Amino acid sequence: MQKEQALAERLHPRLRDWFFTNFPGFTHAQLLCVPSVLKRESILLTSPTGSGKTLAGFLGVFDSLLRELESNGLKPGVRCVYLSPLRALAYDIEKNLRGPIAGMGLEKELRIHLRTGDTTASERTKFRNQPSHFLVTTPESLAILLAQQSYAQHLAHTEFVIVDELHSFAGNKRGADLSISLERLQMLRGKNSLCRVGLSATAAPLDLLGQFLVGKNRHCRIAEARIEKEQIVDVFSPIRRDPYPRPVTPARAFMRNCRN
Ligand SMILES: Nc1ncnc2c1ncn2[C@@H]1O[C@H](COP(=O)(O)OP(=O)(O)OP(=O)(O)O)[C@@H](O)[C@H]1O
Ligand SMILES: [Mg+2]
Repeated sequence: MQKEQALAERLHPRLRDWFFTNFPGFTHAQLLCVPSVLKRESILLTSPTGSGKTLAGFLGVFDSLLRELESNGLKPGVRCVYLSPLRALAYDIEKNLRGPIAGMGLEKELRIHLRTGDTTASERTKFRNQPSHFLVTTPESLAILLAQQSYAQHLAHTEFVIVDELHSFAGNKRGADLSISLERLQMLRGKNSLCRVGLSATAAPLDLLGQFLVGKNRHCRIAEARIEKEQIVDVFSPIRRDPYPRPVTPARAFMRNCRN
């Protein structure tokens, strides 16, 4: 509870208000991951599916953007690159990001560019002329952007990289290409280090994947969140008339809900 309160207090008030209007509290994954992102510490978060890893990665990014907006106003330029192994997941995440942006009333200030092989020429031109703050893409599309000077300059202010489903890139050619792109991003940043966030539901071995995410001789925090699903324990006795649980059919589930 104390950790939850401390984290809530640490968030920008606008973000905090939006979050607690929409959710009852932080998930364990968020409690572990957000403080690292807030202090720009690279982290590999492994946590069960449906445990809120997306916001665990993005809350700290929103906080940083809000503070920048408040202090000097937000200039154009990518601050956060989100990488997904699948185009379909990238589309989902782009939609998920629009929720908090609209919820905080930041549609005019915060822009997202979804970049895949399907991105239209007009969207590409728009991004070239006025880069967005979020770039939601795949490693392959990022590699293409990094190879072009006109886009590379848009990426020079990237502070955060979120690699979703990190395990899917480990030990394969896509992963090797991803490592190179992350190093190129880091080079564009110069001395300022890039905060790398790896998300996965099935990562192992964790220390090796952490090194894969951040590269050699860099620190990566490893965080493992626990399962938070509510467990219901029923006890059945063989001496009762109805000793064994019957399968719950939709009709029985409906009747049970009506009784409750
Ligand atoms: N703090 C929270 N409290 C309740 N629900 C939350 C919280 N944070 C996120 N959620 C919701 O939980 C659902 C699952 O979140 P999310 O997609 O981020 O999970 P995930 O851990 O990335 O799962 P997967 O491993 O399948 O990708 C979403 O509907 C999201 O809105
Ligand atoms: Mg996810």
